[in-house]
Amino acid sequence: MLKTQQDTGITMAKLPIIIDTDPGQDDALAILLALASPEFEVLGITAVAGNVPLALTEKNARKICELAGKPETKVFAGAVRPMVRSLVTAEHVHGRTGLDGPVLPEPTMPLQSQYGVDFIIETLMNRPAGTVTLCTLGPLTNLALAIVKEPRIASRIKRIVAMGGGFFEGGNITPAAEFNIYVDPHAARICLSSDIPFTLIPLDCTHQALTSAKRVARFRAMKNKSGPASADLLEFFERFDEQKYGTDGGPLHDPCVMAWLLRPELFTSREVNVAVECESDLTMGMTVVDWWRVTDRKPNATVCRGINAEGFFDLLSERIETLA
Ligand code: BDR
Ligand code: CA
Repeated sequence: MLKTQQDTGITMAKLPIIIDTDPGQDDALAILLALASPEFEVLGITAVAGNVPLALTEKNARKICELAGKPETKVFAGAVRPMVRSLVTAEHVHGRTGLDGPVLPEPTMPLQSQYGVDFIIETLMNRPAGTVTLCTLGPLTNLALAIVKEPRIASRIKRIVAMGGGFFEGGNITPAAEFNIYVDPHAARICLSSDIPFTLIPLDCTHQALTSAKRVARFRAMKNKSGPASADLLEFFERFDEQKYGTDGGPLHDPCVMAWLLRPELFTSREVNVAVECESDLTMGMTVVDWWRVTDRKPNATVCRGINAEGFFDLLSERIETLA
């Protein structure tokens, strides 16, 4: 779809995206960043069970769209549980609602009646092949179910950009595994082995993007609703990781996905092979990254390891300031 930039006179093609998410305070910031960015056409948001159960993640997604002043955004409910394993949630990090921190009103915008997995399939089958990007911010259940139900979508996806995994940095839910991959390792394995262009943004990268007091203050000082609400979200979210890691602020994971699409130059990465452990109890959900290319496994992902944190927070603040 072509839109005219009235101020510059330049014509810019928007990037159609689907956001698959389990909000989550950091998911919330990612959704705000996407909705604030004119480069994206947000085709829909599909909620998945993850940080908290599905009934809360779909509601939280709608709360954030309303906070952003975008109640026309289409929000769908997807999978209620992972493909094989039982659901593991993270209320100890995100609070009972998944979105503890600010007081946000109950959403009045509707939840779409279509199943989120079917929305993903229908969108990919109806849009021109190679045009739609999937931004995944939670367990990969919805996308893997879509691939299993309609394998033809795999070759139609432009790219998956996923927050998940950790290699040099280890895990955050077990010593070996990062939360999103741990919750549904089978889904992650399916997505990574479907020959889809894939960008992985693991803890190795997001642990450098810390919500320091100075960075949160910038959101607090904004004159709109979304800025101070973001500060409330971040202050609640960071308390767990600040205690755990002893840092000024906690890692801000999910908005890195949108930032990679908007400003890839903020990241350093390598084309390597990533495999997911689905068998061992001890290392369940570990992302085994062949960073040094010591195997002959074919690269299947662009794996990020570094981020320009100042540039990332500048982008996030500048964009969120433009919202309602
Ligand atoms: C990931 O897990 C969730 O708790 C966050 O929302 C993020 O997507 C970080 O490991
Ligand atoms: Ca998330």
